[in-house]
Amino acid sequence: MMLFDYDGIDKLIENIKFNTGYDFSEYKEKPFKRRVRVILRKYKCTSVKELIKNLNNNREEYQKIIKIITINVTEFFRNKEVFDQFESILESDIKEGYTYSVLSAGCATGEEPYSIAFLFENLKRNNYLKYKIDAIDIDRGALDTAIKGKYPLEELKTIPEKFREYITIGESSFTVKESVKSNINFKIENLYVNDAISDSTYDFIFCRNVFIYFRRDLQLKILNNFYNSLKLGGYLVLGKVETLSNAFKDKFEMIDLRNRIYRKL
Ligand SMILES: C[S@@+](CC[C@H](N)C(=O)[O-])C[C@H]1O[C@@H](n2cnc3c(N)ncnc32)[C@H](O)[C@@H]1O
Repeated sequence: MMLFDYDGIDKLIENIKFNTGYDFSEYKEKPFKRRVRVILRKYKCTSVKELIKNLNNNREEYQKIIKIITINVTEFFRNKEVFDQFESILESDIKEGYTYSVLSAGCATGEEPYSIAFLFENLKRNNYLKYKIDAIDIDRGALDTAIKGKYPLEELKTIPEKFREYITIGESSFTVKESVKSNINFKIENLYVNDAISDSTYDFIFCRNVFIYFRRDLQLKILNNFYNSLKLGGYLVLGKVETLSNAFKDKFEMIDLRNRIYRKL
């Protein structure tokens, strides 16, 4: 097994910030090192110092390594059970004439906010309601894909048949219809920044597979921002991986333990 020398990792974080504006200083050490290991392999370096030398403050190269660090893995209806629960929450209390507001935090290439949008579109068939979704991510490259809303055909496999009317299927790709896209506002934002989400209030906040990599104090800060940005009775959907810190247990009612869905008290 190859051994890597991580000496200089703080300097790497500093250089990333200098060249790209992204600040990874609040990431947990272990997962961050795992990502750096992938970068070292890609650049055929055995030490962080050698990597820094090779990158030579080249902004384009630094942009490429951001993609490796942020991990944009996602899919339509990822962990379908979470969406089934979300759908039944919506159906149990349909507010006619209401405009639902949703935040998809760490939306990656857009599959999560589009899946949410498909559910709302389906509800709109029999109910008079509107929705708007803010979808944010730190990674500009991922957001560019999200904004285009164009995906390879393999991604169709997780989209249930009933939602296919909201996409246009071509020979090698499919595209989300403009009527759906127009409800989503994609924005580049860093979740650690205090005012990233503070001027909106939401009925639902989805934040799945995002802050597991962050240090605890940062997780608490983000959860606090979510709490403040949720309407009373609004839902926080953390999904299968993230957990709600005990510090927030009396501020939220547990709705679904397996899918980590909570309601603001
Ligand atoms: C693994 S993807 C999760 C995508 C989607 N939520 C899902 O569960 O399928 C994590 C996303 O979080 C984004 N991310 C990481 N740190 C972030 C930050 N500080 N602010 C906003 N987004 C961030 C990454 O760029 C990446 O696109």
